[in-house]
Amino acid sequence: MSRIGDPIELDRPVSWVALVGFMGTGKSRIGWELSRALALHFFDTDKVIEKVAGLTVAQIFEAYGELTFRAYESETVDRCTALDEAVISCGGGTFNNPENRLKLLARGPVVALSASPETILERTKRSPRVLLQVPDPLKKIRELLEIRKPFYDEAPIQVSTDGRLRREVVQEIVEKLESWYERSDEFHVVNRDENLEHIAQNP
Ligand code: S3P
Repeated sequence: MSRIGDPIELDRPVSWVALVGFMGTGKSRIGWELSRALALHFFDTDKVIEKVAGLTVAQIFEAYGELTFRAYESETVDRCTALDEAVISCGGGTFNNPENRLKLLARGPVVALSASPETILERTKRSPRVLLQVPDPLKKIRELLEIRKPFYDEAPIQVSTDGRLRREVVQEIVEKLESWYERSDEFHVVNRDENLEHIAQNP
């Protein structure tokens, strides 16, 4: 019989997971729902940056430039990889940076969400993104996706959010995390050790 003060045993495949992917692929919304499904805390790197800086992402870009924003982003990756019991939703450009990528991949499972350029355009119209304030945002989305796709492809778990209910997407992620966990001993720990070694040699 369990007693007050005993640790609660939760049946979840992982206690830390990061979501990456292009703007408008649903990382924040899906991340939040995934965190509810797994009974984990939820952190959105853009929101962490905004809180720490006391400025919105757009204001940081405008006042200090993209490089400063990317520096905040890397610092936030350090903070978030030190956490446990958390779902981390990363800004769309976070996974471009090789050090961020290595740190996230070394920390635990990384899920890349994807959607078509047209879906991304529709979704990002609802809450405008600083990088898409250009005359032809669809062209810009295609260009950025071409550059970034190889990085997102490095995530061990890939899930499309195009035309799907959030509940279905969360279900697929949980199932994929379960099989990731089953394979993690033989496969991902090797990756993790290699990545950690690389980080140690390239501080
Ligand atoms: C960016 C994505 C944004 C935000 C910033 C830059 C990017 O986050 O971090 O505007 O480079 O793709 P979302 O992916 O949450 O929109």
